[in-house]
Amino acid sequence: MVELHPDVAYVMVGEEAIAKRVKELAAQLDKLYEGRRPVVVCILKGSVVFFSDLIRNMKTTLTIDFMSVSSYGNGTKSKGELTIKKDLTTDIEGRDVLIVEDIIDSGNTLYNLKKLLNARLPASVNIVTLLDKPDRREAPIEPEYTGFVIEDEFVIGYGLDYAEDYRNLPYVGVLKRSVYEN
Ligand code: IMP
Ligand code: MG
Repeated sequence: MVELHPDVAYVMVGEEAIAKRVKELAAQLDKLYEGRRPVVVCILKGSVVFFSDLIRNMKTTLTIDFMSVSSYGNGTKSKGELTIKKDLTTDIEGRDVLIVEDIIDSGNTLYNLKKLLNARLPASVNIVTLLDKPDRREAPIEPEYTGFVIEDEFVIGYGLDYAEDYRNLPYVGVLKRSVYEN
């Protein structure tokens, strides 16, 4: 048994379930990109753990790149607008792009990001997200691949943060409300 961090109310997705699902997603993506050479984009910082596990389970020849965008600040509610903090260094024109995201909440981040990347004329843009909270969707966007659909709780760990903490927890846990309320 993993010892729970004191700020975690309960584990929503455990290490073994994540590892199993990541392997399944990697196999599906290998099939999709067979014979192609996708640019796999890690959306910093939240996706870094999922991204590194995912690409190591993929057998496809691929290139990686990193992008940092923000729509959140240090709170728990989305602001809706997108700021690019770090852009890709790869020219994606004519390339197959796979966006790797940690979680889709309102969908505003990915909706704006996909629009921005499509303007650079890639051959295709697909989204794989570890987590999806469909109850909170505001923007019309659906990921092509989803690890886990979860209920509307603020989660941390496996890359996800609250005010930059908890990213290194090996599981996805629900943050105790007492940590961010009052
Ligand atoms: P959206 O634009 O509302 O879809 O927000 C997506 C981004 O918000 C994600 O990439 C996360 O960085 C952050 N986010 C949304 N929900 C959570 C959560 O439950 N825990 C941690 N970060 C979250
Ligand atoms: Mg994020």
